[in-house]
Amino acid sequence: MDFKVADLSLADYGRTEIELAEHEMPGLMAMRERYGAEKPLAGARIAGSLHMTTQTAVLIETLTALGAEVRWASCNIFSTQDHAAAAVAVGPEGTVDAPAGVPVFAWKGETLEEYWWCTQQILDWGTDAEGNQRFANMILDDGGDATLLVHLGVEAEKKGEAPDPATATSTEQRIIFEVLQSSLAASKDRWTNVAREIIGVTEETTTGVLRLYDMMREGSLLFPAINVNDSVTKSKFDNKYGCRHSLVDGINRATDVLMGGKVTVVCGYGDVGKGCAESLRGQGARVIVTEIDPICALQAAMDGYQVSTLDDVIETADIVITATGNKDVVSVDQMRRMKKNAILGNIGHFDNEIDMAGLETYPGVVRKNVKPQVDLWTFPEGEGNAIIVLSEGRLMNLGNATGHPSFVMSNSFTNQVLAQIEVFTKPQDYPVGVYVLPKHLDEEVARLHLDALGVRLTTLTDDQAKYLGVSVEGPFKSDEYRY
Ligand code: NAI
Repeated sequence: MDFKVADLSLADYGRTEIELAEHEMPGLMAMRERYGAEKPLAGARIAGSLHMTTQTAVLIETLTALGAEVRWASCNIFSTQDHAAAAVAVGPEGTVDAPAGVPVFAWKGETLEEYWWCTQQILDWGTDAEGNQRFANMILDDGGDATLLVHLGVEAEKKGEAPDPATATSTEQRIIFEVLQSSLAASKDRWTNVAREIIGVTEETTTGVLRLYDMMREGSLLFPAINVNDSVTKSKFDNKYGCRHSLVDGINRATDVLMGGKVTVVCGYGDVGKGCAESLRGQGARVIVTEIDPICALQAAMDGYQVSTLDDVIETADIVITATGNKDVVSVDQMRRMKKNAILGNIGHFDNEIDMAGLETYPGVVRKNVKPQVDLWTFPEGEGNAIIVLSEGRLMNLGNATGHPSFVMSNSFTNQVLAQIEVFTKPQDYPVGVYVLPKHLDEEVARLHLDALGVRLTTLTDDQAKYLGVSVEGPFKSDEYRY
């Protein structure tokens, strides 16, 4: 078995954590019970690109219990939990000397070159016993990098040339262009063959979903996609309650500063921003929200937060967190104006929310690494003009802490499993396009998590159901309902 992880000897620790997580992930365990015998994913070769954490380990082993073959990489250079990666590679039946789990290509602290190498490993499945080339036939993506690589590869093969790395506008883009150049030199149809095999992709997060809708609008989308993010039991839970948990966890582990009384700014009041603002308020911080959308700005105001612009409050902020999924939200000029040792972190998917490239190249700026994923950046002007930047501007709840806890991820990942089954077993129902799961499955995911919390649900009478125009079993809301 080929794989690459940091340290296989961490597998025992990882396995214990996975077993503890299983208890907290009733949705995934119910999937195993319901579909384990039937094995609806038999024949699926899933390329997974999603943070390689303990919770993801439970997802991976659920997919294999349902019959899938799986190869996995992380979707972020800092988010892998090395003990979880080791345990997945070793597998429940394997040993450190004879790993027998799933091929994982992930470790905490990858370089960008390593990251894109790992992403290639999950799509390319080597050759079978007869020497035939094998590729993934399903993608499970978070942020869309695996999907993007396939699309860029196909585009380069169609044109017969890859984009010139010298024209790249960022280091990461240069690396991707180099990957495309070398794969084109090795094969004229590698990515075309991969794309032909792919039955569909299931996408985890807001940013990845935006990319999919863009491709669909442009007419460049090559295979059907299920937007898992917009299942209610995903975005209204993971994005909100998950970040409510893991934002302050990341700040604490990185800096251990007291948040009570401090002025904190949350940029963006979508699902993630709502969870972040609530968690900071829970610590007694004074929370200011910035927004571009009048509806979300009004929501923030009515939830009791001051709503302002970053420019107006940057000098007074002790902690600034970006949660927009947008780019260039915090400029270097704004960083320069921050208080001494103020903390800057991003919880959105990509590192372009904060102008890290501008910070790195700012004349005279000095970077001092405090500990992994925590840096003190000192500007040349002024006495003590320094800020603390978390995880180099990459999602700090996974870089500085361990991401969302199991129970909330069980909701997200149960949607992922249902989405994989849906598109893999019914490809005829999904022509190329972007889809959300039907509401009855969304309600089912929630239902699977009620017992663990001791929730008692009220049952509609026939008469009440008729009055509301719904069925006693649900769905209970129209597709337009916003929760
Ligand atoms: P969303 O679309 O619900 O919210 C983003 C909000 O930011 C919107 O209300 C938008 O109006 C606002 N916004 C956009 N540009 C802005 C600007 N320049 N200044 C202030 N506000 C601005 O998206 P959601 O679901 O909250 O996700 C946000 C990001 O977090 C995405 O990149 C998503 O992929 C990521 N994410 C990260 C997670 C994590 O664990 N770190 C978990 C879930 C999502």
